[in-house]
Amino acid sequence: MTLHANPYEPIAARLAEVVDETPTIKTFIFTPDEPIPFVSGQFVQLCLPGIGEAPFTPSSSPREPNRIEITILRTGAVTEALHRLEPGAELGIRGPLGKGYPVDELEGKDILVVGGGVGLAPLRALLYHLFHIRDQVGKIEIKYGARSPEELLFRRQYGQWSVLPGVRFSATVDVPHPQWTGRTGVVTVLLDDIQLDLKSCLVFSCGPGVMFKFVVQKLLELGARPEQIYLSMNRRMSCGIGKCGRCNIGPYYLCKDGPDMNYAKIMGYADVF
Ligand SMILES: Cc1cc2nc3c(=O)[nH]c(=O)nc-3n(C[C@H](O)[C@H](O)[C@H](O)COP(=O)(O)OP(=O)(O)OC[C@H]3O[C@@H](n4cnc5c(N)ncnc54)[C@H](O)[C@@H]3O)c2cc1C
Ligand code: FES
Repeated sequence: MTLHANPYEPIAARLAEVVDETPTIKTFIFTPDEPIPFVSGQFVQLCLPGIGEAPFTPSSSPREPNRIEITILRTGAVTEALHRLEPGAELGIRGPLGKGYPVDELEGKDILVVGGGVGLAPLRALLYHLFHIRDQVGKIEIKYGARSPEELLFRRQYGQWSVLPGVRFSATVDVPHPQWTGRTGVVTVLLDDIQLDLKSCLVFSCGPGVMFKFVVQKLLELGARPEQIYLSMNRRMSCGIGKCGRCNIGPYYLCKDGPDMNYAKIMGYADVF
C-alpha cells in the first residue's frame, strides 16, 4: 500500500460516528476525503489541529478504505481530546504507515490471535481479513483478556465470531467479578486450552508490553518457535516513517519495519518487553 505523495501531509477526514465501547475506549468512524487503502496492522497518525498527532492502527476491515474505524483508549492529551470529539469534527489522517501483518504468509495456516485490552482493536482488522479469506486458512482461535467485564472490547461481536466455521473465541477477565461467569486470570490462562498445532500455526498478539513477555514464554513452553510469533510493537513513535529514530529495537525501526514484528527477529535485543 502506498503512502500519500508527501508523507507529512495529512488527508482531511470527517468524524462520522462515535461508538462507546467501554468506559475508557471509544471507536471513531472516519470518512476521509480520499480512500486510505491499508493492510491490516498498518497504522495511521491522527492529526488534531492545535493539539498534536498520535499513531493508531485501524480496527476496521481493510476492504473499506473509505470508512476507517479507529478504536482508542483514553490515556493522555491527544486521546482525551479525541474522546471529546463529536460527529462532524474534522481532522487529518497521515498514512497508511508501517508494513502491517504478513498477509501473504497466512494461506493454509492455522492462526492463533492473542489480545489484551485495547490490543484487540488492531487485531480486529486482521480478523476481518481472515474471515474474508476463511476458505484459504485453517482454524482460527482468538484468546482475549481484559481487566474487567466492563472493559471487554467489541462484546457485541463475540457471538458472531464464535459461530463462524472453524473459529473459536474465548475471553477472560483479570479478577473475579459478580457479573462474569467466564474464565478469570490474565490472558495466558486461556493458552492452556489451545486446539491448534502449536508447532505449525502462526500467532498474532497485541496488548500491553508486559503481556507479551508472559504470552511468549507460555507459547515457547507449549512448543511454538519464535518464527511463528508476531508481536504488535505499538510503542511510542513520532515521525512514523523511519526518520526520527524514536522507535528502534536494534537495527529495526518499528514504524517502518513493523509495527508487527516477527519475534525471531527481535528476541535478542534487551528492550523487547
Ligand atoms: C503503531 C501504533 C498503533 C497504535 N494503535 C493504537 C490503537 O489502535 N488504539 C489505542 O488506543 N492506542 C493505540 N496506540 C497507542 C497510542 O498511540 C497512544 O495511546 C497515544 O499516542 C497516547 O497519546 P496521548 O497524547 O493521549 O497520551 P500521552 O500523554 O502521550 O501518554 C499518556 C500515557 O500513555 C502512555 N503511552 C503513550 N503512548 C504509548 C504507547 N504507544 N504505548 C504504551 N503507552 C503509551 C504514556 O507513557 C503515558 O503514561 C498505538 C501506538 C502505536 C505506536
Ligand atoms: S517513529 Fe520516527 S523513526 Fe520510527
